[in-house]
Order: sequence, then C-alpha cells, then structure tokens
Amino acid sequence: MKIVYLNGSPKEKASMSANILSAMERRLTGAESIRIDGSEARIPFCDALVMAFPLYVDGIPSHLLRLLEALEHASHRSVNQAARPAKLYFIINCGFMEPENAEIAIDMIGLWRQKSGLSPGQAVVFGGGSMRPSLKIGLGPSRNYKRALDALAENIKNRSAGAPILTSVNVSRFLYIKAAHRGFRAAAGKRGLKIDDLYGRL
Ligand SMILES: Cc1cc2nc3c(=O)[nH]c(=O)nc-3n(C[C@H](O)[C@H](O)[C@H](O)COP(=O)(O)O)c2cc1C
Repeated sequence: MKIVYLNGSPKEKASMSANILSAMERRLTGAESIRIDGSEARIPFCDALVMAFPLYVDGIPSHLLRLLEALEHASHRSVNQAARPAKLYFIINCGFMEPENAEIAIDMIGLWRQKSGLSPGQAVVFGGGSMRPSLKIGLGPSRNYKRALDALAENIKNRSAGAPILTSVNVSRFLYIKAAHRGFRAAAGKRGLKIDDLYGRL
C-alpha cells in the first residue's frame, strides 16, 4: 500500500498538523509512505492521500488552497486516469474547541476531491488543536484524538470510506481558554509586545 502525506500547515516546525501526520504514519507502518510539500506538480500515484491542515478563518489556508488548485489541474492528467483512484483522508485542526467550525472547510475539500478525481475516504476534525504541537497524541487531553486517529487508520488500511468524525480535546472550555490566554501572553512577551497590544485594532 502506498500512502502520500501532505502537511498543509505553513509552519516550518512545531506544527500540530505535522504531529498528527506523524501519529498517522506510526499507525500505518508497513505501508510505503511519501511526504509531499508545495513543490510537487502532481499527486504521486498512491492508494491514499492523507492530508492534515489547520483551519484558517473557517476555511483552507490560502497557500494550501493555491497548491490544491494546482494539483487539481495536474490531476486531470494523472490521478483521474488511474484504474483505481486514490482515496482522500483528511484531518483539520481548529484553534477553537468546536469542531463544527470546520464544516465549510470539509465541504470545500469535498468539492476539490471530486474535481481532482479522488475517491471519498474520511474527514476528521480536531477541536482545540492549538495545544502544544509536541503533544503526545493519546495521553491526557488528547485521548479523543487517539480514538479518532485509530478509527481513521483502520479505514485507510481497509480502503474504506467513513462518515466525518468531529471531536475535541478532553479538557474543559474554561481550562482551554485559560491556557490559550497564557500562550498568547507568552508569545506576545517573546516578541517584545505588551498585553494591551494584543487588543490593538488596525
Ligand atoms: C491566520 C489564522 C487564522 C485562523 N483561523 C481559525 C479559525 O477560523 N478557526 C479556528 O478554529 N482556528 C483558527 N486558527 C487557529 C489554527 O487553526 C490552530 O492554531 C491550528 O491548530 C494550527 O495548526 P498548525 O500548528 O498545524 O499550523 C487560525 C490561525 C491563524 C494563524
């Protein structure tokens, strides 16, 4: 089995999307895995395309959108003509705790999949995906993530399709927001900004 992984986060390192894809790869050992980035002209021939990306403004990050458009045009010459088109599996991680925020992005990817000649696989959405990117998936607050990734991995292995799985972190909303505020303040401090600057408007 050949699996192509695409990380749709613009972060060069320490992205949650990269963490999720590594967790997926560990569940699919034995399969040939190929990682692609924005430099590919087309999706390599494969059994499954597994994509992870952050939700941006309820949609697809613009750099990923551009890449998908380019791959869509190229697919009319490659994937589309394959006897058994690759299945598309994708994981969206949201900063907000509510995975329902990604419903529009799921539809957008669904339309792209159809135009690109890929077969339906499954979508997984993680609410609260802004936690530490180094988080070991499966422990403490990410127990729900583990369950979702295990189910997704089974479908990939069996080349099955599945209904979308929308899940979130195993922490209370109160604690998540408190941790987010601490994170934003620390990030501002590192950049020489004051707390008030975080509330500034253009
Ligand atoms: C420009 C921008 C827009 C964002 N928009 C949303 C959004 O609409 N909804 C949401 O839940 N999270 C949003 N986020 C948060 C990211 O989806 C979240 O931090 C994600 O876990 C980052 O994943 P990554 O580490 O793989 O890049 C946004 C982040 C950025 C930088």
